[in-house]
Amino acid sequence: METYQTLMTSDGSPTLIDPKSGQAMHAREGAASETFYIYGQGYLESRKEDVSHSVCVVGLGMGYIELCILGHWLTSFGSDSLPAIHSYESDIKLRDAFTTWLAGKPNGELDLVLKNVSKNFGLMDRDLKDVALNFYATFQWQIHGALSSDTKAPLKFGLICYDPFSSSANPDLWEEDWLDIFVKNFADIKSVFTTYASNGRLKKVLNKCGFSLKNKIGFGMKRESTLAIRN
Ligand SMILES: C[S@@+](CC[C@H](N)C(=O)[O-])C[C@H]1O[C@@H](n2cnc3c(N)ncnc32)[C@H](O)[C@@H]1O
Repeated sequence: METYQTLMTSDGSPTLIDPKSGQAMHAREGAASETFYIYGQGYLESRKEDVSHSVCVVGLGMGYIELCILGHWLTSFGSDSLPAIHSYESDIKLRDAFTTWLAGKPNGELDLVLKNVSKNFGLMDRDLKDVALNFYATFQWQIHGALSSDTKAPLKFGLICYDPFSSSANPDLWEEDWLDIFVKNFADIKSVFTTYASNGRLKKVLNKCGFSLKNKIGFGMKRESTLAIRN
């Protein structure tokens, strides 16, 4: 990942700095901890609400969210139905780095991501990686390219983990019209929407689409995050 600089966050897990915007992919207080708090809790909420077991991740990046979901599934819901996971990632370098690593190519940063996530669930790195590879190889986990208004939803999702860069680095993905189209096309009737961010445009769209917003404090320096449920 030569164009991305690696930064070690405070909990010992790495993040990458986007060369275009200079923005880090995760909070400096902890990439893994942020993922468990925002998206891991979002996944648990989606199981509690008994929404369909299908997850859309916007922004594969280093794959923290997907590994975290697989960690929860493996340790708590393994006998339950398999989650269908669809990830979107616009940067082909990140997609290639992740999928070739899954297939066995050495990548120290992604090994560290895996180590941090496995540790949280008391799993062996190898076991979590095998599950991830198996999901990917059997198309239970699909990794797509850029998400745009032309993207057709492959299915309606029970859980949406919305993690593109922030509105300053990626304004298109935080516009009200786009969010409206995305939520209408991708969210199942019963669904959970979670993201590290909170802003007026997103709240307006989620309210309009019938979601109720839970009060959820943001991670690290962020005042608020978003956890919304439509049931
Ligand atoms: C904050 S990072 C994601 C971090 C990631 N969830 C993880 O756990 O490591 C944002 C990611 O969204 C990707 N992205 C930005 N715009 C996108 C789009 N339109 N479609 C898909 N991915 C996009 C970026 O390339 C970047 O990898």
